[in-house]
Amino acid sequence: MPERRMGFETRAIHDGQPPDPASGAVIPPITLSSTFVQEEVGKHAGYEYARSGNPTRRAYEDCLASLEGAANGFAFASGMAAEDAVLRLLAPGQRVVIPDDAYGGTYRLVSKVLAPAGIKWTVADLTDLDALARNWPDATALVWVETPTNPALTIVDIEAVCALAHARGARVVVDNTFATPFLQRPLALGADVVVHSATKYLGGHSDVVGGLVVTNDPEIAERVGFLQNAVGAVPSPFDCYLVLRGVKTLALRMERHCQNASAIVSMLVKHPAVSRVLYPALTSHPGHAVARRQMRDFGGMVSFVAAGGEVAALQIVARTRLFTLAESLGGVESLIEHPARMTHASAVDSPLAVDPALIRLSVGIETTDDLVADLRHALDSVVAQ
Ligand SMILES: Cc1ncc(COP(=O)(O)O)c(C=O)c1O
Repeated sequence: MPERRMGFETRAIHDGQPPDPASGAVIPPITLSSTFVQEEVGKHAGYEYARSGNPTRRAYEDCLASLEGAANGFAFASGMAAEDAVLRLLAPGQRVVIPDDAYGGTYRLVSKVLAPAGIKWTVADLTDLDALARNWPDATALVWVETPTNPALTIVDIEAVCALAHARGARVVVDNTFATPFLQRPLALGADVVVHSATKYLGGHSDVVGGLVVTNDPEIAERVGFLQNAVGAVPSPFDCYLVLRGVKTLALRMERHCQNASAIVSMLVKHPAVSRVLYPALTSHPGHAVARRQMRDFGGMVSFVAAGGEVAALQIVARTRLFTLAESLGGVESLIEHPARMTHASAVDSPLAVDPALIRLSVGIETTDDLVADLRHALDSVVAQ
């Protein structure tokens, strides 16, 4: 009888993390040693030097690779370092297509770091694949997908992008930060590489910065593994431990993030201070059908447009108490922010510039009614004035 594949929650808790053979420790120890003994030259227990590999990092990489359905995982010091390693797969003269509402840091990396090094780039609307097929840019080697996007929560059809790109010899990378492998598994939908900002839902507690690359493609794995060691943007063993610990509750947290987000959206759609709510669960969302197909649930991120424009948006984000005004997302606590002036300020005056009336929420796992009341109070205050 074929061995039964364990469920997501079980793998999050056990994969890559058998009890430590040396001590019996049930939780992988944080191995701080920067170097490892060799019995004779080249004969060792699998580790030589901690930039090249470390047991705590290996446990984390193996666990996350399993959750994404990948053969290989590589941990990095930040999401941007992970993105940089993947974008270094491109040679000068090759092109990357990035979505027209990609995370601002991705845009900055491509336009200000890679472009001067000879990488070509094009911004495209990945929800209009017919237009992209008609105007397929020359020398495209990589299509960068983010879905749902940050902060517009645009949904991109991963299977359809992969079909288009693969037919033209390009590879597809999916930034799965917003969905996490609990809600969406891009490799199973045809993507070649998945990247994460582990700083967000994977870590889950807003106390660690990290990034991750996973892939089933042996050629890409070989190159990314080489770059991880050659460039050296690796996470500390303590950071690896923190993400691995966070991931154990990923499924439970995501379920609650989704429930709370849904309750907040029900309030927002009826509130007079809100002119538009961006959340893929809404049937009015243009990506609703695709999200339903490729995601298990709709996630914990919600964006909305303040009816009173930028002035009202700035007032609302300053008036919540439980929703903390801060950048980042994906932690257990709820955050509110103004993308145009905060997370996406680097995209100002670019094709990726964000509506200044837009507010982004990272809905946490606090008591649902408390969150709804806090936000409603801030919204009521701008209607009353
Ligand atoms: C979708 C997305 N990708 C990548 C990143 C970059 O990750 P990091 O901040 O861990 O470098 C972020 C950060 O906000 C993000 O939101």
